[in-house]
Amino acid sequence: MSPQPQDAVGAPLSRVDGRLKVTGQAAYAADHGTAHGIDGIVHAVVVTSSVGRGRITAIDASAAEAQSGVLKVLSHRNAPTLPYRPNPGSLNLPGERLHVFQDDEVRFHGQPVAAVIATTLEAAQHAAGLVRVDYDAEQPVTDLVGAPANEPPAAYARGDAEAAFNAAPVRLEMTYRLSRTHHNAMELHATVARWSGARVTVWEKTQWVQSTRDELAAVFGIPATDVRVISPFVGGAFGNAARCWPHTVIAALAAREVGRPVKLVLTRRQLYSGAGFRPAYEYKVRLGSDREGRLAAMTHDLRAETSRYERFSERGVLSPGQMLYTTPNVSQAYRTVPLDVNTPTPMRGPGYSTAAFPIESALDELAHELGIDPVQLRLRNEPESDQASGLPFSTRRLRECLNTGAREFGWNRRDPKPGRTRDGDWLLGTGVATAVYDTLRAPAQARARLNADGTALVESATSDMGPGTYTSMTQIAADALGLPVRQVTFRLGDTIMPPAPVHGGSLTMASIGSTVQDGCDKLRLQAIQLAVDDEKSPLHGAAPEDVVVRDGRLHLKDDSGRGETYRQLLTRNNRTHLEADGAYTPARPQASMYAYGAVFAEVAVDRRLGLVRVRRMLAVYDAGRIISPKLADSQAIGGMVGGISAALLEHTLTDPRDGRIANANLADYLVPVNADVPQLKAIYLDGRDEVADPIGVKGLGEVVLVGVAPAIANAVFHATGRRVRELPITIDALL
Ligand code: MOS
Repeated sequence: MSPQPQDAVGAPLSRVDGRLKVTGQAAYAADHGTAHGIDGIVHAVVVTSSVGRGRITAIDASAAEAQSGVLKVLSHRNAPTLPYRPNPGSLNLPGERLHVFQDDEVRFHGQPVAAVIATTLEAAQHAAGLVRVDYDAEQPVTDLVGAPANEPPAAYARGDAEAAFNAAPVRLEMTYRLSRTHHNAMELHATVARWSGARVTVWEKTQWVQSTRDELAAVFGIPATDVRVISPFVGGAFGNAARCWPHTVIAALAAREVGRPVKLVLTRRQLYSGAGFRPAYEYKVRLGSDREGRLAAMTHDLRAETSRYERFSERGVLSPGQMLYTTPNVSQAYRTVPLDVNTPTPMRGPGYSTAAFPIESALDELAHELGIDPVQLRLRNEPESDQASGLPFSTRRLRECLNTGAREFGWNRRDPKPGRTRDGDWLLGTGVATAVYDTLRAPAQARARLNADGTALVESATSDMGPGTYTSMTQIAADALGLPVRQVTFRLGDTIMPPAPVHGGSLTMASIGSTVQDGCDKLRLQAIQLAVDDEKSPLHGAAPEDVVVRDGRLHLKDDSGRGETYRQLLTRNNRTHLEADGAYTPARPQASMYAYGAVFAEVAVDRRLGLVRVRRMLAVYDAGRIISPKLADSQAIGGMVGGISAALLEHTLTDPRDGRIANANLADYLVPVNADVPQLKAIYLDGRDEVADPIGVKGLGEVVLVGVAPAIANAVFHATGRRVRELPITIDALL
């Protein structure tokens, strides 16, 4: 087959859904209502526990029920028993998920204990404040430090790390801490649920319509075919909409109980206990090295919080310690620590961004100890193959990332000694860190349809939480079909569409992109076949592989004058449309597949006030082929902003007395504003990863967060000579 000409892939397109978003026409979960054919919506408001552990001894809902407009107050006292069947799919964790309104036990502060359903939101909100709940409260345990862990730990070992560490001429031992953080996407979690007989339709904020469908089917004990989940737009998620949370069940239950469609929107405060979070960590690293900085041994001892009812482990947190640097001797132990909290969940760059802070800080500490440049130290420990799996790398251009970054950033201008560069009261420093995230792919399907008017529609039940799936898939489809972008529509976010995996783990471009490519290739070839078989076509008798399509017109590759349009072809053949199904099944990995990056940061630290200001950042990524450069930049800049946030601001604070989250709002839970974000630049190494997937991409949305926080922390050390081993780096740590 001749290569199909390309116009859209690689072009810096703006979002195809941009106009819908900025004009308010994009319907997020809570926007659904009469305009979408959902009439008579009533509102549910969740009442949450005001103790961190214990039992509910009484619920007095009489004052709430007496309010006009209130339809029902649901709690464990009157809720029906729900089947809560096992749901082996989705993000199934060891333990058992929280069952809503099924018993009197309180497992964490902020657990849903009742819901008020009323005809207006105001009535429901007011009545929710009138529900009186009495508890037999116990002292919750919410601090990771000192709490007993689940045993045995998840463990990994190669070589003899103890012996190699003890024999190493240079030995470092450090403990790093990462605070608990919450995703805090702009869009609140929201559900609209409507039953028709035994079937339920749910308009939902989710990164995975299929997962919510399967969970609702399991909870209510109904067939998955009786559940439809619709989620056309997601206003940010970062991982916390990948799983069906209790409020979705509450909305569906409430709708069934009152026989009306119910809308439920969690408040910002309720998000902190109503959905997951990135767990707090203690991470102990030991490095053994020779005087030239070659790593002889690395040991990793991790403790991270989970809930008492489910055991959440961060996927990927052990990988960087195993494969990022040449280390013959590695040992790792990862312990989860059950606390009286709700269950954590993946948050952008899960595992990898967690591990990056201790590992990349430790490398910086070693560089300082040995007097070796931190870039050189990393280059010196660059492996030739994956030491954990033994596999060759599909592509690994980390050396190029580091070297290009160092050059573009002006790294070599730095004085290696910390605390020596000043700008008035500000101490200046630069830092570097490596970013790594694995290239995930998952089976996916798509349906592509070419209409007689020369437009195309492609569908897959994926999601677009912000990376621009609508746009990037339109670009892939447009080129594969030989159509202008404006004639292609991509739809997503509905369980009636061909199945797709979770929109997470940076696997969407690789997986959905490959299935869209497949479906559209098949569709184009179908049209070409129709033409070459058709005696009335100017292409009759041509070899299919000699035909290409451009701007909706099929023609010979070497003779563009001989051809016709899709429209002419389909109309003459009395075809309203052609259709093809795309499929993608990832091959078993024959290579170690990761996206890489090198992140450089310059900070200024006020020597008297301890204020840290990031002055500039530059990152260079080896992420395979870049489909959509403008959206890639949006991901990279967003990732760097998220990293600034993790480095300096984000910190979920829990009151140890009752397990209450003290800063469960965007006034006290700090995230960066424009003034916190300086000049940021991302560079993408040109090229593609032919091994990873048919379209040559490695995933970008997560790797761009990884490495940012340690680059900033290392820059803070370089500026001040103070090593802060805890995130976020707050002013008090530098005074
Ligand atoms: Mo991402 S944390 O896999 O949404």
